[in-house]
Amino acid sequence: MSVITLAIATGRMAARTIDFLEESGIYFPDYHNDSRKLVMYDTTNTVKLIFAKTADLGTYVDKGAADIGIVGKDIIVEEQPDVYELLNFDFSNCRVVVAGFPNTDLYPGRTLTVATKYPRIAGNFFHSKEQAVEIIPLNGSIELAPLMGLSDVIVDIVETGATLEQNGLVVLEDVLDVSARLIVNKASYATKTEQIEQLISKLKRK
Ligand code: PRP
Repeated sequence: MSVITLAIATGRMAARTIDFLEESGIYFPDYHNDSRKLVMYDTTNTVKLIFAKTADLGTYVDKGAADIGIVGKDIIVEEQPDVYELLNFDFSNCRVVVAGFPNTDLYPGRTLTVATKYPRIAGNFFHSKEQAVEIIPLNGSIELAPLMGLSDVIVDIVETGATLEQNGLVVLEDVLDVSARLIVNKASYATKTEQIEQLISKLKRK
């Protein structure tokens, strides 16, 4: 039986994804919270798990370096990988929002500056509202941008709300509900259909 390569995200989503896989009966004995290993196998040696940076997951699956991936809907909408999206899981639920200082006017009659790691999502959102924006692409700690006067607002993920709250910022508008999704490389789905379907049924049965 050939091996299925499954890409999952490093960072806070890794432990949740591993828990979810274990609840589905797929175990990775080499995984522990402090692990820096980027490639490991399940106990049956039929699932090869790889850990990629969240924003790169779609690329690994799109290019066939991984057969399947578990990734947030935010990355699918932002990166638009050419993959099948086959399952919507009920974990890693969060939101993409516009946030900033309380009472910030989002439609001020001038160009709004928006710091974000989601330039496409942010651009499309404000375009749909006919609000001109200058997008300032950042890679992390996005909440810092309005605090330092780098942008008027941010478009970012909110999960618990703690980061916004501890920095005096609030949600100004909702943009997108996010949950973890299963994505599949199109060629892999054609050549490894049975194995991928078996894995999907395990994940569904959970
Ligand atoms: C994400 C996001 C927020 C934070 C929100 O950042 O960009 O900063 O989590 O989570 P909360 O609502 O639970 O506080 P992440 O921790 O992924 O790191 P980053 O800032 O390096 O992108």
